[in-house]
Amino acid sequence: MNALQRELKKLTIAYEKQSRSQKSGENWRSAFHITPPTGWLNDPNGLCFYQDMYHVFFQYSPFDVNGGLKLWGHAVSKDLLNWEYMEAALYPDQPYDCHGVYSGSALTENGNLYLFYTGNVKHSGDYDYINNGRGSNTVMAVSHDGKTFQEKLLLMENKDYPHHLTCHVRDPKVWKENKIYYMVQGARTKDHTGQVILFSSTDKYLWKFETIIKSDVPFGYMWECPDLFELNGQKILCICPQGIPSQDLKYQNVYQAGYFLLSGDFYKDYHLSEFQELDHGFDFYAPQTFTDATNRRILIGWMGAADSSHLYTNPTMAYGWNQALTLPRELIFKNGKVFQEPISELKSLRKQKITGQGSKRIHGLTLYELELKGTDTSFSLTLAEDLLLFYQKEDHAFFMKFTGKSGYGRTCRGTQISEFRNLRAVVDYSSVELFINDGETVFTTRYYPATVQTTLEIKGTQIEYVIWELSLK
Ligand code: FRU
Repeated sequence: MNALQRELKKLTIAYEKQSRSQKSGENWRSAFHITPPTGWLNDPNGLCFYQDMYHVFFQYSPFDVNGGLKLWGHAVSKDLLNWEYMEAALYPDQPYDCHGVYSGSALTENGNLYLFYTGNVKHSGDYDYINNGRGSNTVMAVSHDGKTFQEKLLLMENKDYPHHLTCHVRDPKVWKENKIYYMVQGARTKDHTGQVILFSSTDKYLWKFETIIKSDVPFGYMWECPDLFELNGQKILCICPQGIPSQDLKYQNVYQAGYFLLSGDFYKDYHLSEFQELDHGFDFYAPQTFTDATNRRILIGWMGAADSSHLYTNPTMAYGWNQALTLPRELIFKNGKVFQEPISELKSLRKQKITGQGSKRIHGLTLYELELKGTDTSFSLTLAEDLLLFYQKEDHAFFMKFTGKSGYGRTCRGTQISEFRNLRAVVDYSSVELFINDGETVFTTRYYPATVQTTLEIKGTQIEYVIWELSLK
């Protein structure tokens, strides 16, 4: 451990300890979603199942509730719901990562855990930090126990990337297939289009640039946080494009998160389908996936949105923490689309249930899950008096609309759906995740009800509902 890491570690632990002693008055700390122990969190990183535990790392700024110098925070769980926070795993303690240990992924092999990330460096000087002045270094860190992360190795730097790219190259996602290691990274070209670059390696240390993966027509100026995997025989390329203008109900957030279906061979004759958004709510970005011991493909996203603090906020900042990750979701590919379902473990939290049909007002809910089934008719739900969720049959559209304060600046989002069949809503103390039609359409938002106990109002005659109170105990 070098002296810088030692001091950063001491400071982080001190900040975390101080925040634990200042918890009074807090109603919004999530029960089963990952939040930062103190300060700020953004992207999920290094998702994996290693030594019988799920490991989730995350972009973590313990010293600044608005984000700042990035470390990798670390949480572990046996069931993807009860999370234990470990000491931060990676600190910006090397010349090649001194302005932030940026996003990346994990690979488990022969009892070891390999983490791949972008070491961010901002040189001081008169730079634009797009074409010059920025180091985007690909780094690997190794752990033999999932608790200590000592060995770091610089794998690639800007000069090793294709020369048509700007300095913006980041977020390595690594996987192994037929004895070859592959890595995709997100990139911005010198003519400002987003692309993915693909590398391969036979030993994880020496990487060879293979090809670029791009859309037929340019789609945004930068692609962040790529992920490439197969679901039920279909290759899926997830990316977070920046610079996509809003279009009717589409692309309403500052930056987007979604996927292309990739057909053909990604080395040569591939084709990317039309881009599909993974989520239509206010708070979803930088998703990553991994497979667990039972071969489920699980996705976790950042339940937030980059560069949107001028539009809406999170009042937990007053309590010294900000942002959360989404619920882990299992991905299923059917009917040419990616469906998302809350991980089946969530059912183990179900306690009392309330069932019924038709309009109803319920008081005193805290953590809960709601299941609705219906024929294709209009209906609405109101959560905590001012979060309105409604389906308009005549327009085939579903909306999420804040009519009062609990959205802290969030307004309205919507999307087209062909018909309504069912819905599942998962409600934690400060978040709502909606899975419509078996997870074909998803909306995620943070929300901040004034009281811990909230109301739910269902309006619609033909709607059948089941409400489950959830408890971690
Ligand atoms: C996405 C992102 C990544 C980067 C990280 C830095 O939210 O911008 O591209 O690695 O956040 O925190």
